[in-house]
Amino acid sequence: MLDRLRRIFRREPKAFPELPDVRLTPIGYVRNRVKEPMADGWANVESRVIIRPELADMLLNLGDYSHVIIVFWPHKVPDDVRGSKPQLHPRDDEELPLMGVLATRSQIRPNPLLVTPVPLLAVKGNVLKVRGLDAIDGSPVLDVKPYLPHHDSITDARLPKWVEDAQAWRNR
Ligand SMILES: C[S@@+](CC[C@H](N)C(=O)[O-])C[C@H]1O[C@@H](n2cnc3c(N)ncnc32)[C@H](O)[C@@H]1O
Repeated sequence: MLDRLRRIFRREPKAFPELPDVRLTPIGYVRNRVKEPMADGWANVESRVIIRPELADMLLNLGDYSHVIIVFWPHKVPDDVRGSKPQLHPRDDEELPLMGVLATRSQIRPNPLLVTPVPLLAVKGNVLKVRGLDAIDGSPVLDVKPYLPHHDSITDARLPKWVEDAQAWRNR
């Protein structure tokens, strides 16, 4: 009897739907002095984000904002590395907990859309000047958005302890 009921109510796993491939065309690229990936040391790096000249109209009044979010692509991550590690120790540090790659900000995620909020120092024509963008020279830029504190910042967000410790270490 119990078995019969279990069979009746057993849920079949739903097939995952077919999803379309997504193709993105960079709207610009990064110029700065950093030629190879590096883990730290970005805070004072000044970059120019050069937008395709034909898209310059899309920057109208962006300079009214103090900060922008830059979405970029880490083009120097080899194709066979991208998405190759479902779980990893952040910063390759085995003392940090093993995390699902989607529970980290690693650039070797399957679709590495990297997202960094930065101060916007200037906008001139099709060029944005920013500081602290953790993208190496030549990185393709996929999007630029204004940073909206009431929208993009959650002050009471819960974090794993290792992230809080790393933050405290940085702020020391
Ligand atoms: C860990 S990711 C985080 C990016 C972004 N702040 C985020 O949270 O999405 C940043 C690292 O990606 C690496 N990186 C930056 N530009 C890259 C590129 N074009 N190709 C490969 N790696 C890159 C650098 O080592 C940099 O420290």
